[in-house]
Amino acid sequence: MPSLQKSFLRISRQQNEFADTFSRDLLSQYPQLTPFFTGVDMEKHKRDLIAFLGELASSFDQGVQPEKRFHDLGLLHAELQIPPRDYPAFGSTLLATLAQFDPQWSEELKEAWASAIQECVRLMISRYPSGSLPQAGRVFIGQGMLARKKVGRNPGTSDF
Ligand code: HEM
Repeated sequence: MPSLQKSFLRISRQQNEFADTFSRDLLSQYPQLTPFFTGVDMEKHKRDLIAFLGELASSFDQGVQPEKRFHDLGLLHAELQIPPRDYPAFGSTLLATLAQFDPQWSEELKEAWASAIQECVRLMISRYPSGSLPQAGRVFIGQGMLARKKVGRNPGTSDF
């Protein structure tokens, strides 16, 4: 199993460029997401994202799921009215940017990062109040390689 923490350390050598590239690519490829970021302190958002990726990498390497952390993050995004259908754009752009900034990128790393992001998204979405937002879409991270998972607790997100 490849180490996500080592991958993260390689990526974080260029953390500013990484975060700038991610934000730029996300909003240029998915301009419909721009309104969500209106008024957001993008420097803080970049720092938050980098810190979060570090947490995600270390928990994945240790085989633990910080469920409460992911649930709280999901609740925050639900409060921001970010619909589940917008997560695939975020996830696939994140994965593509990670690939771009890790000089030792591999198929195994791609699968490992994709699984970690997928699991994080699944737990985030499971915290959305049922029926409060549009039906979740299919998670598409990477080349459509991820299986669709069911979230039993929340029928509104059954596509995950
Ligand atoms: C893999 C899915 C996602 C992850 C891991 C993630 C991660 C984060 C993190 C760590 C924060 C900072 C939370 C805090 O302040 O404590 C945040 C905030 C935020 N995220 Fe996400 N996010 C995801 C999906 C999305 C999506 C799909 C959108 C919009 C299309 C989005 C837009 C925002 C916005 C607008 C904020 C608030 C920034 C602020 O007001 O400070 N996120 N996200």
